[in-house]
Amino acid sequence: MRTKIVAGNWKMNKNLVETETLLTELAAKLPDTTAEVMVAPTFINLVSAKQSLDNSTIQVIAQNMHFADSGAYTGEISADMLLNVGIDTAIIGHSERRAYFGETDEILAKKVTTALAKNMRVMFCFGEELEDRKSDNHFNVVASQLKNALFSVEASEWKNIILAYEPVWAIGTGETASPEQAQEMHAFIRKTITEAYDASIANNVSILYGGSVKPANAVEIFSKPDVDGGLIGGAALKADDFVAIIKAI
Ligand code: 13P
Repeated sequence: MRTKIVAGNWKMNKNLVETETLLTELAAKLPDTTAEVMVAPTFINLVSAKQSLDNSTIQVIAQNMHFADSGAYTGEISADMLLNVGIDTAIIGHSERRAYFGETDEILAKKVTTALAKNMRVMFCFGEELEDRKSDNHFNVVASQLKNALFSVEASEWKNIILAYEPVWAIGTGETASPEQAQEMHAFIRKTITEAYDASIANNVSILYGGSVKPANAVEIFSKPDVDGGLIGGAALKADDFVAIIKAI
């Protein structure tokens, strides 16, 4: 059975004090939910975030990780370093990593392989750009992103994969995919996984939608049968908005 998930990707926002303040407020206001709730602060604040959430069910996850175990990779963070401070889930493949840091499908495949080999959970992000949708190429783009970075994963490893469909044109723009567009793509993703693996893997993987999810549109998006939750950017930076989105699930 797939789980419902609401995750906040804080990106490069919130210093140490701001992180503590937001987490304290979130922990205090967290509604009763069977959904998994996750936050991804910046690397430098992961350890303190884990400590502040010691008595909370809110999980702390990483925004990225490197594929190598260790070595001469200035500025990078390894899976072992994350695991060593109690972080067992990493976002991989965010469109901002692809666009601004040159992360290709090939690099992402290596990151996925490393994370799964270490028994970490991967929240794999993918999604088409505006031109792809305008030229009706969005299904092809998504299928190839999945195939190139994920489809060499063993069937048994899919239990540690969470998918986050984030159309690039909806990220930080205020323009959300309509609930119907999200549902259509999520159903397509399950069909693509069924063809590459089987229906059981496709039906058990949680697929989150990301891109301008707000309290005002969350209920409608989350009500779609193949949408299992959200990866939230801007609205995750305000406790009341994030809590409202968690309530929507
Ligand atoms: P926004 O919710 O700000 O559009 O960001 C979405 C996102 O990129 C989450 O990873």
